[in-house]
Amino acid sequence: MPRLNPTTKLPTLLTKGLTRTLTTKPKTDWNATQYLKFESERTQPALDLLTHIPLKNPTSILDLGCGPATSTNLLATHYPTAKITALDSSPAMIARAKAQVVQRTPSILFETGNIETYTPTGPIDLFFSNAAMHWLKASERIPTIERLMQPQTPGSVFAMQVPHNLDEPSHALMWETAAEKRWGGRLDSVQRDGFMGPGELYDAVKGFCREVQIFEVSYYHSLDSHEEIVEWVKGTGLRPYLDALEEGERGVYLEGYLERLRGAYPVSGDGRVLLKYPRLFMVAVK
Ligand SMILES: C[S@@+](CC[C@H](N)C(=O)[O-])C[C@H]1O[C@@H](n2cnc3c(N)ncnc32)[C@H](O)[C@@H]1O
Repeated sequence: MPRLNPTTKLPTLLTKGLTRTLTTKPKTDWNATQYLKFESERTQPALDLLTHIPLKNPTSILDLGCGPATSTNLLATHYPTAKITALDSSPAMIARAKAQVVQRTPSILFETGNIETYTPTGPIDLFFSNAAMHWLKASERIPTIERLMQPQTPGSVFAMQVPHNLDEPSHALMWETAAEKRWGGRLDSVQRDGFMGPGELYDAVKGFCREVQIFEVSYYHSLDSHEEIVEWVKGTGLRPYLDALEEGERGVYLEGYLERLRGAYPVSGDGRVLLKYPRLFMVAVK
């Protein structure tokens, strides 16, 4: 029986002749402050992606999943004359993005919306997406890229970076902790769809783009402690697990997860912990 939360009501269901009202926990929004705790580490891949874009002066750019404007600010600095639209589905992230953005002319337009359904109002030379496309359902990722690229002129670019780390202990141990008997299978459906491998991605995008460049980079982040790994993923991959738990249960889950991290990541000679973080990049030209 799901826990009752008086604020969110689902349609009334008939069960064994009885009428009951099912309720569900509302999802929490992204927390920009938590996300920005590792701002420089999270921004580096966006910077690396930017250096691979074969465009000198794009007129119009769409930053898909702009978050707190970390990627948007890089784009604005790199392409000072471009008209930039920054899209995100999280009202909290859009609010933070507006506060963090560099002031410039032409100004940046912020939109709250879903990448899966958003349609730009005019032509786009560069779609840029740093660490967002993996949040789309697996079945929607390629169709969304194809739908966005379809009306664009030849030469337009879709550039993206996604974490490719679901097999890393940092993420595998989230599931292992979630599979503990104590949760009674409640966290079984939380697991995110993995992102396709480089070959599959290449084949899929080559169907509608003439050039597809793919590369992988493994970053090794030197962190203070195992607790910092928890802090890191609390801003992203751990969110759906914590969302599915009640306030009072989260500490127990986090303890179990931290204990496993201690077993999986050795302490380095200087007392720090190295977090391996593989990421998959694609730059596709129509
Ligand atoms: C990890 S953050 C990346 C933020 C930023 N691009 C950066 O480089 O730091 C991922 C962002 O994608 C957004 N996001 C996830 N799924 C989305 C969707 N379907 N539509 C729009 N935004 C989405 C989240 O709200 C979040 O702000």
